[in-house]
Amino acid sequence: MNTPGLRKIVLLHGHPDPDRGRFGYALADAYEHGARAAGHEVHRVDVADLDLGFLRTKHAWDTEMPAPEILSLRERVAESDHLAIVFPLWLGTMPAYFKAFWEQLLRTGAPQNGKATAPSILRGKSARIVVTMGMPAPFFRWYFGGYGVKSFERGILKIMGAAPIRTTLLGSVEGRSEAGYQRWMQEMSELGRRCT
Ligand SMILES: Cc1cc2nc3c(=O)[nH]c(=O)nc-3n(C[C@H](O)[C@H](O)[C@H](O)COP(=O)(O)O)c2cc1C
Repeated sequence: MNTPGLRKIVLLHGHPDPDRGRFGYALADAYEHGARAAGHEVHRVDVADLDLGFLRTKHAWDTEMPAPEILSLRERVAESDHLAIVFPLWLGTMPAYFKAFWEQLLRTGAPQNGKATAPSILRGKSARIVVTMGMPAPFFRWYFGGYGVKSFERGILKIMGAAPIRTTLLGSVEGRSEAGYQRWMQEMSELGRRCT
């Protein structure tokens, strides 16, 4: 059992690029360090390290079992208290490779007792979504309505029982100053420390 106040976190970094120089890796590192320093347990997955296929048919969705590493990650998620999710905005939403990851993680798989059901691994987990983007964050939020992130938040996490779900949008990341960079690292570390 966990020490009171200490939680089990699954940190999902959804950047498809394995280049550790990408900004998202530094953000995920800061969150992870903050969480570990506070004593939380962190299981981290960098999706770029996974060899994922694309789901192409309803038949595969309903009947084929996901790869063993996805099945063991499901167990981790089911046992966790909190999900921290980091990804860059690509064409207004998450990169296709990260969407493919969610399709694999949440696919129904082989029917049990003749009935295929979606796994209920997200129920009761709190979540933090952190999204980096080239445009200013208020522009994404107000002009674009934040839809590409809301569809993930409401259409996947919320509908499958995660709550509460909090979102951090980091905009204008390509023109960031050193001071801004340090502030974001501090913010991520603090989110990890507080497990929120
Ligand atoms: C394929 C691609 C699509 C992108 N689409 C958008 C977009 O729709 N809106 C936006 O604000 N930034 C967009 N960007 C900029 C990325 O969001 C930005 O480069 C990323 O958040 C930086 O983080 P990274 O260093 O971890 O890649 C895109 C970048 C790429 C490579």
